Amino acid sequence: MKIFSAATIGKLTLKNRIIRSATFEGMCDDQGFPKESYHNLYSNLSKNDIGAIITGFAYIDKEGKAIQPGQAGIDHSSKIPYYKKVCETVHNNNSIIFMQLAHCGRQTDQDSTGGNVWGVSSKKSKYFRSKPQKMSIEKIQITINQFARAALFAKKSGFDGVQIHAAHGYLVHQFLLPQINNRKDIFGVNPKTKIGTEFLSVVIDKIRIECGRDFPILVKISGDVDYLHNFSKKQFVNLIHFLDNKKVDGIEISYGTMDQALNIFRGKTIPYKAISLFNPRYKLRYKFLFPVWKLFATLFLTLKIKKFTSAYNLNYATLAKQHTDIPIICVGGFQTGQQIETVIQNKKLDFVSICRALLCEPDFVKKLKSNPKYKSKCISCNICAIMCDSQKATKCYFGKIE
Ligand SMILES: Cc1cc2nc3c(=O)[nH]c(=O)nc-3n(C[C@H](O)[C@H](O)[C@H](O)COP(=O)(O)O)c2cc1C
Repeated sequence: MKIFSAATIGKLTLKNRIIRSATFEGMCDDQGFPKESYHNLYSNLSKNDIGAIITGFAYIDKEGKAIQPGQAGIDHSSKIPYYKKVCETVHNNNSIIFMQLAHCGRQTDQDSTGGNVWGVSSKKSKYFRSKPQKMSIEKIQITINQFARAALFAKKSGFDGVQIHAAHGYLVHQFLLPQINNRKDIFGVNPKTKIGTEFLSVVIDKIRIECGRDFPILVKISGDVDYLHNFSKKQFVNLIHFLDNKKVDGIEISYGTMDQALNIFRGKTIPYKAISLFNPRYKLRYKFLFPVWKLFATLFLTLKIKKFTSAYNLNYATLAKQHTDIPIICVGGFQTGQQIETVIQNKKLDFVSICRALLCEPDFVKKLKSNPKYKSKCISCNICAIMCDSQKATKCYFGKIE
């Protein structure tokens, strides 16, 4: 099968075409230092024949920290020895690991950042509702330097490369989207391409200055975004042309923003009980109201939720492939060897990436290797995703909250 043939990302050779997509761990202390469980997670994944591993999103500075407790930080050199241990273990297991770098921008709150919430503009996110302070040019330059500094810390820790999180409505994505980026300065939307790429452009340049031209940089982007933001295919293609020009080492194609998170990780059911217990916005105070709450939640969500299908970002990934020779990584809804093989063999995509099936079974790739017809036990219940807000380390719940 072509899935198990080697392929390259920059100077790296991956043993197969399956990548572990970034998955928030919830395994760090409140200063963003990784705990033993973080080390154990990557130690275990790296023993399981995965082509490469991408960590969960790590904040480049406390001001860009997410609301989820236990997020990793890559904001200070004192963290390097902790990540070094993780990378050494992964490398001893003959595996490759990237660190995902993120700044949440407006998709967080003041309790989490310990100060301001910053944004490309002062427009609020519909879900997070914090009023962001619009970044000055000076603040933007500081933040760009923080991305470059974080990449250097990651390199010094032994990570094989970094992934810039430019998807899911986080800061880099906020710069890209004209519905959020209304700036009139150099960091505004380019009138020709209708996307705001200057921030990402300088972040890539500065990372290369700090880490060298051959330190691999992946970029995760959203193909489509929900109707609140309207991102056309033309804008998407312009974004691919931009990344092609920047010669990044790989592009992962995801979907949407955290305003409608359940469209990023689509489910076969909606985890109402977990939402009512743990979601910071919609949790229910009085349990007896659950039936009424569920009725309203169903009406509200069914209007907005996209259906789960296998390979649900494939149309955008194949569109990207038509416009660049840079390796394309398609994420979203892969659960069988056959689905992956079709995408690699017939659609000529370079890699697929997987989050939930590997949370459910870290040895999923090994199982596919011995039986290509193997189907993941993941039922896409999405309790794992809702529980990211719960203070508990991320794990698979197999459809039940105990
Ligand atoms: C529990 C959980 C945590 C996630 N954490 C991240 C993250 O830190 N960074 C990121 O870019 N995407 C994150 N995602 C999205 C996944 O990387 C992936 O894009 C999405 O789940 C679709 O892939 P899948 O169908 O294989 O799960 C997360 C998803 C889940 C369910």
